[in-house]
Parts: sequence; C-alpha cells; structure tokens
Amino acid sequence: MMKAWSWHSFGSLDGLQLESRPMPRPGPGEVLVRLRANSINQRDLMAARGALPRNGQSKVVPLCDGAGEVVEVGEGVLSIGVGERVIGTFFQRWLAGALQRENTGTTLGSDVDGLLREYAVLPETGVLRFPAHLSYAEAATLPCAAVTAWSALFTKCALQPGETVLTLGSGGVSLFALQLARAAGARVIVTTSSDERGERLRQLGADGVVNYRNADWPQQVRALSGGNGVDVVVENGGGGTYVQSLTAAAWHARIAIVGLITGFTDPGGSLMPILLNDLTVRAVQVGSRTDTENLLRFIGTAQLRPLIDSRFGFDDAPAAYRRLDSGEAFGKVVIEHDA
Ligand SMILES: NC(=O)c1ccc[n+]([C@@H]2O[C@H](COP(=O)([O-])OP(=O)(O)OC[C@H]3O[C@@H](n4cnc5c(N)ncnc54)[C@H](OP(=O)(O)O)[C@@H]3O)[C@@H](O)[C@H]2O)c1
Repeated sequence: MMKAWSWHSFGSLDGLQLESRPMPRPGPGEVLVRLRANSINQRDLMAARGALPRNGQSKVVPLCDGAGEVVEVGEGVLSIGVGERVIGTFFQRWLAGALQRENTGTTLGSDVDGLLREYAVLPETGVLRFPAHLSYAEAATLPCAAVTAWSALFTKCALQPGETVLTLGSGGVSLFALQLARAAGARVIVTTSSDERGERLRQLGADGVVNYRNADWPQQVRALSGGNGVDVVVENGGGGTYVQSLTAAAWHARIAIVGLITGFTDPGGSLMPILLNDLTVRAVQVGSRTDTENLLRFIGTAQLRPLIDSRFGFDDAPAAYRRLDSGEAFGKVVIEHDA
C-alpha cells in the first residue's frame, strides 16, 4: 500500500484527506515514479473550491506539479530508465503542436489522479527528465507555472532578444516569465501591489516595476518602455486588467491571455486597441510535452533556478495550500516527501 492525499469533498481544505491506496504497477509503455516533491498552483485552490472538472471521478488525487524518481518501467519502455529523475507533464496526452480536443481530459490533478501521492504510474510519454542542477523541489515547480510562462513568451508570442515584456503580478507564472524573458535577452516590466515586492522583483532582474494600485499604471508602463509600449504581455490579470494591458502595448504587440485573477469578464473596450495597433491576442493553456522539453533544455543551459517561497512535509500538505491561499507567498510553495 502507499499513501495518497485525495479530495473527499469540495468547498474547504477539510475535504483533503490522507488515505492508503494499493501500490500501482506499470503496464506496457508505463513507468512507476516514486514522487519526491510537489508544488501548488492557483488551479489547486480552484480545485479545493470544486471549480475544476473532475471527469466524473469522486475522489481525485490533487496536484499537477510533481517530481520524482523512476523506480520501475513497464514492457516496451525505451526512452527512460530506472533511477532517472523526472517531472510529470501537465496534459498527459498533449505531445506537440496545437492543443486538440483529443489531447484534453488527462490533466493531472483534475481530469485524472494527480501527483500528491507516494507513487504514480504514468505513460512513458507523460514524464520528462529534468536538468541535473535542479533539486526535486525545484523541478516540481515547473510543469504548470513555468511551462505556462514559457508557452506565453516563446510558443505563442515568439519573444525576441531586445524586446520588452510586461508581466502582471508577482505570482508563480509572472516570476518564471521574469526569469525566462531576462535570460533570453529581453527587458521586463512587472506590475505588483507592493513596494516591498517591487524591490525584490528588481533584485531578480526586473528592469521596471509599476504598482498596479495606481490607476495610471498602463501609462507608467509605456513610459518605462521608452514611450512606445511593450512588445509582449503576459496577461495574468483577466477582466480587471485586460484592456489596460492592451493600452500599454506597442503597435504589433503580442498579448498572451494567461490568467483570470481579477475575473472572467471582458469589460469591453478591447476592440479598438487591437484594431488600431494591430495587436495579436493568443490564448495559453499551459503547454505541450514539446513546450515542456524546450523549457527544460533552456533552464538547463541557462542554469536557472526556480524561486521557492516555502517548503512543507508530505503529511502537512494542507498547510502548503494555506500558504498559497494567504497571498503572501513570493515564489513557489513546495511539498517535500522526505522532509
Ligand atoms: N492559462 C493557463 O494555462 C494558466 C496556467 C497557470 C496559471 N494560470 C492562471 O494565471 C494566473 C496566475 O497564476 P499564478 O500561478 O501565477 O498565480 P499566483 O501565484 O497565485 O499569483 C497571484 C498574484 O497575482 C497578482 N495580482 C492580484 N491581483 C492583481 C491585479 N489586479 N493585477 C495584477 N496582478 C494581480 C498578485 O501580485 P502582487 O502580490 O505582486 O500584487 C498575486 O501575487 C491565475 O489566474 C491562474 O489561474 C493560467
């Protein structure tokens, strides 16, 4: 038997319970992973509220983010071996290209059981080796937030060296966007609600920081970009920030729609800036296995390290959720199984 957390009911963290489950065994084309670390995302707080699809399952093991060691491989597995350190991919069936309907429905931690458990069987194509300089805890932060930032900047917006990026807020996606865009030779402007966070963002390499509590923040962003506006926007804000982000964008800018922190409703007024300034608006849904592979190669070459806010033990998983829910985390909240 093995230990696994699972949702028994939704609406509060009380629904998250530790239970015993039978030890899984890999079939043909599958690998058995001994999980060592996980990390938590906004979507996991949404899952706690019952706001994510569950594919009809009554008890779902949470979390799409996890890293561990391959301890057994099934018949016919060639690309990965016992002892290798891997992460799981967010969409277990989306390998490359544009997302197709048939590739959805296997998202870890919502559609199918996630990785907040001691062992998981995953398809060979649902895991990837991660760079040697990363710990399990660091690698566990990558499958959702870092892949999303990568897809937004490079797959969807084709960011070029010397361009200027605007990324909204100092959450997990935004911190990865800052690190990745800087390492790719771009200038980065970040919005935040706190001057103290602004200082930490500058230390991480932000070229400009703007407090979004000031109503004229889009104009401040334009001024920081030399008056022309930014070339790429990582739009994490949603309904409350979308139109403002468009007004901070340069002619021919690319906008990646990522988050809905401030709500789902387009407030209107977005058509004219898109039309007049020839803006390109792209949607981001985390990313494919190929996006994840490209991200891992870049992180390995640039020797980037994810920023970790706090670490919790496996048996203390609800405290990790509470930390993210507090809104005070700066960097990723991780769970370490051997802590
Ligand atoms: N489309 C996708 O594939 C995808 C993938 C991952 C995440 N997401 C979504 O993207 C969003 C960000 O995810 P995350 O993991 O980075 O979340 P997170 O770590 O919880 O980030 C929250 C941050 O958002 C910032 N924020 C709050 N209100 C804001 C506002 N009015 N304007 C600008 N920023 C504001 C805050 O920054 P300060 O503390 O600095 O004020 C806060 O720290 C979420 O909505 C998430 O669900 C989408």
